[in-house]
Formats: sequence, C-alpha cells, structure tokens
Amino acid sequence: MATRNRQHLMVVPGDGIGREVTAQAARVLEWFTKHRGLDCEISHDDRFGAEYWHKSGEFLRPGLVEDMIKADAVLFGAVGGAGDNLHMPQDIRRKYGLPAVRKQMGVFANLRPIKPIPALASDSPLRPEITKGVDIMVVRELVGGIYFGQPRGIETLPDGQRRGVNTQVYTTSEILRIAEVAFELARKRRRKVTSVDKANVMESGQLWREEVQAFRDKNYPDIELNHMYVDNCAMQVVRDPRQFDVLLSDNIFGDILSDCASVITGSLGMLPSASIGVHEASGKRTALYEPVHGSAPDIAGQNKANPLASILSLGLALRHSLGREADGDLLDAAVADVLARKERTADIAAPGVAPISTSGMGDAVIAALGRLAG
Ligand code: IPM
Ligand code: MG
Repeated sequence: MATRNRQHLMVVPGDGIGREVTAQAARVLEWFTKHRGLDCEISHDDRFGAEYWHKSGEFLRPGLVEDMIKADAVLFGAVGGAGDNLHMPQDIRRKYGLPAVRKQMGVFANLRPIKPIPALASDSPLRPEITKGVDIMVVRELVGGIYFGQPRGIETLPDGQRRGVNTQVYTTSEILRIAEVAFELARKRRRKVTSVDKANVMESGQLWREEVQAFRDKNYPDIELNHMYVDNCAMQVVRDPRQFDVLLSDNIFGDILSDCASVITGSLGMLPSASIGVHEASGKRTALYEPVHGSAPDIAGQNKANPLASILSLGLALRHSLGREADGDLLDAAVADVLARKERTADIAAPGVAPISTSGMGDAVIAALGRLAG
C-alpha cells in the first residue's frame, strides 16, 4: 500500500463547554484512526479564549493562529466567558475574538448544513410536515462585509452625542469566491442556489445580486439561481424550508439566517459548521470546524452539554478536509442511530427517558460506530 502523508487535526477547545464537547469529538476521531485506517495525528492547544486571557493576560498564545493555518483541520470549541470573564473589554474581544481569528486564517466560506434528524422531529417548534426532508446548505461569507468594513467605531460628536458606525462593503472578488463555493456545492446537490441580499435598499446588495447573476450566467448555466431579499428569506426559511437547496449570503445575513434555520433541527446543540479558506497550490485548504453554539457558561464543567454539534463538525472535517466522505456518512449514521435509541443529552432528552451526560454521548456514538461498522 502506498504511504500517505500523515494528516494533522488540531483541537482548540476554547472556553466553557468547548472543552467538554471537543474532548468527545477527539475520542470519536481516535476511533476512526484505530478502526478505519485514518492516519491522522491529533494535537490539543487550550491557550485560546477568555479563560486563557484571564489567566495569562493574552487572548491567544503567539503563533497559535499560524499553527491553525498549517494544520489540515482545526476543531474549535467555543469562545466567551461568564462571571468575571464578562469583564473582558470589547476592544480585546474585537481584536482577538473569533471573527478576527477567522479573518487571519482566511476562512471566507462558512458552511452550515441544516438537515433535521428524523428522531428529533418533535423537538422543533415547527410542525413535522414543514421540517420533514429539509436539506439546506447555508453558505455564508465569513471574513468581509459589515463585520470588518471601514470606517467603524464609536465617536463623540461636538454636541456631546455619540455616533456608532459600521460599514457594509463587498468587492467583486469577495462576492465571486463565495458564490463559486455555493455553485460548486449546488452541483453536488440539487443544483439550486438562492442568493440573499437587500438589493432594494443597499448598493452593496445590488452589487452582490448583479455579480452573482453574471457569474452564474457565465460559469454555471446548469444551476438554477434565484435571488431573495433577506426579510422575505427569513420568513421563507420557517414557512417553507424545503424550497431551499444552497442558501448563499453575506456575513451578517448568514449569521442571522443560520440561527433562524437552526430551529428546523430542534436544537442549536445539533448544528455543526465548517469554515474554509482558499485552495493552496498543494490542494490543501485552511479549515476551521466549529459548532454553531457558544460556550454556554451556565452548564460548563458539568458534563451535561450536548457534544453532537462538535462531533458532527468532526464529520464535516472528515468530508471536507481529511478526504473521508464514507467515514463522514458513517458518523452521521451513528449519530442518527444513537438518537433513534433515545440516548440523548438533557437539551434533547425524550420525554420520560433519563438524559445521558456529555461523555455518555461520546460513549454512545462510539458504540454505534462499532455496531454500524460491523
Ligand atoms: C456565529 C456567531 C459569531 C458570528 C459571533 C460569536 C462573533 O454568532 O458564528 O454565528 O457572529 O459570526
Ligand atoms: Mg451567529
């Protein structure tokens, strides 16, 4: 057998439940290295986040982001603290927080699959006939737009009032590289892209719409493209989510729409995401995998949190970074199997069935992998 280059997955747990949930995802990855011939080294670095800032005065250790860029994939937990950590100054947060790390890593494409698991259908506030069969891929631009546009800031005016400014700005190249990700994904799916903007009010939205349409006409005539204003889209996502295949949006609209769409799956604790950078000549892409949920300080350290969003984020890493599509499928099947057996953490517990712990969920997924792999 030809020798392959050993791959490297870096675990950066961050704050709060990030530690507990990534620990379970790392165990699951170890299972794949032991039982499925996956040649992947796993390293951990917890010198990142609000807790580290309180201990060391630094938000992240020097060189950490460079190492994250070098890794084949990074499994990220969550960032943000509670209690005294809440005093973390906004400027520190802005300078070193998650958006800044994403920007430094150049991970411009954020993929958020929204695919409800049938066993959890009754956990969604939406009726099962609305959510049944939904399969949406949110493709969110992640390192541009109003999160980063200049000018930004808060100033005091001569009359003593204060003025806060952020700028929504996109260039052709920023729009086209994210549109390309959406169209390429659509080709492997149901060949439909819905592009979201506010072109009726915003120039940046008008540009977004024109550029996406021209790009599609030139390069992807086989893909059906329609455009939707973001307000209408927010309604359509909960009214009739089956109409969507790939949902393409800018940074802030994607942030809002992905939380909105998460109700389709029943729990924010179930949603994984992948943030991916440009292709390098070697074929590698920088990639950060993280749950959509946050650090949940109220339940941190109690072995209660649902690790499935982190475990499913590992599933995305298997597919998008480690070249292991079949293993990604196996992991999805194992998670579905566990949930169907009503082995669930407190956030998604079945009525009358005692919830299992964070590590108990890790055990359950590993047991299911063993059963399914035969
Ligand atoms: C997300 C989060 C982040 C974002 C926050 C924590 C900065 O809401 O990943 O959706 O707005 O991108
Ligand atoms: Mg968000």
